[in-house]
Amino acid sequence: MTSATARAPGRVNLIGDHTDYNGGLCLPFAIAPATSTTARSRGDDRLRIRSTAFPEVWSGHLADLTLEGREAMPDWVRYPAGVLWAAREDGWLLPGVDLVIDSELPLGAGLSSSAALECSVALAVGTLVDRPLDPGSRHRLAELCRRAETEFAGAPTGGMDQLVSLLAKPDHALLIDFTDTSVRPVPLALREAGLVVLVTDTGSAHQLVDAESGYAQRRAECERAAAALGLPRIGLAWPDDLSRLDDDVQQARARHVLSENARVEDTITAVTAGDWEAVGRILLSSHVSLRGDFAASTPALDLAVETAVEAGALGARLTGGGFGGSTIALVPEERASAVQTAIDTAFAAAGDPAPTHLVVLPSAGASVRTT
Ligand code: GLA
Repeated sequence: MTSATARAPGRVNLIGDHTDYNGGLCLPFAIAPATSTTARSRGDDRLRIRSTAFPEVWSGHLADLTLEGREAMPDWVRYPAGVLWAAREDGWLLPGVDLVIDSELPLGAGLSSSAALECSVALAVGTLVDRPLDPGSRHRLAELCRRAETEFAGAPTGGMDQLVSLLAKPDHALLIDFTDTSVRPVPLALREAGLVVLVTDTGSAHQLVDAESGYAQRRAECERAAAALGLPRIGLAWPDDLSRLDDDVQQARARHVLSENARVEDTITAVTAGDWEAVGRILLSSHVSLRGDFAASTPALDLAVETAVEAGALGARLTGGGFGGSTIALVPEERASAVQTAIDTAFAAAGDPAPTHLVVLPSAGASVRTT
């Protein structure tokens, strides 16, 4: 086989944010928009990477796939090249390749465009070089993509996005337990319940690559809280431990992580019982916690959440890392367009740029075809 095309979806996180890197629980699902990568093997050691999202074509060699070599690469190239680097670190024998990338996902909207890109590259190239791609192997592939993102692209993210992009099932969310990264599909029959998830991209791109970013700061605060309690990760603390944290900020961050874990469990109970009103209430309390204890929201995210609920959503919250990006609202299908209009009107009244919306349902994980 000389070429393979893989399609890896973006995601929304139903609930469980800032829990993955803290050893907690999260419950994302894949959405239909995806990134496709076609990988072709070459007869030499050259690499060429082209993306429909950027004007330039990047050319290099297999020998450039080093942590020093990445310094000369444009930021966007570090994601696909990082996957090739991590694959070689994992022992893959790679030929030179041409990669052609095409993304339907908005960049920086908090819908995991980076993970979709990494996973599509990993799956396409993995197919080209005959790597096993069964669910167990995909688990390992997700870890390889996470390494590409954290170690090569420099974004200290937690691993949720890659796992759901590679392992999602239609009409299911994916429960991920980051104590051991085990996964379990959880039926999420929104369609049968006449519900949809309305995604609202506030248009203020969130930024994960930057030591000064809110995301990196929160991560560091959580690490300090865990260290103060003598734990490897703060998600392993018990609620009683919180009072042992002298620092108020650390205590608030830890309280979010522990309460968010409990909310993931409560959401699964409510989803399983078909109690969608309860799911909506839990989503909203997640937002309150992310806004207050975790300080990861923005006025635009808050406005989208409040307006959605006033206009008939069962619940809403920021989704993903926060500090910009998108919200999700759980909405009866027939109310979706009214909720959307209400949010547009509220943004216009506040003088904010018009947001963009997307109606999503839990979709399939990544797939691949060969030619
Ligand atoms: C981003 C990261 C994830 C996760 C979320 C917050 O999406 O990529 O790993 O940490 O933020 O839950």
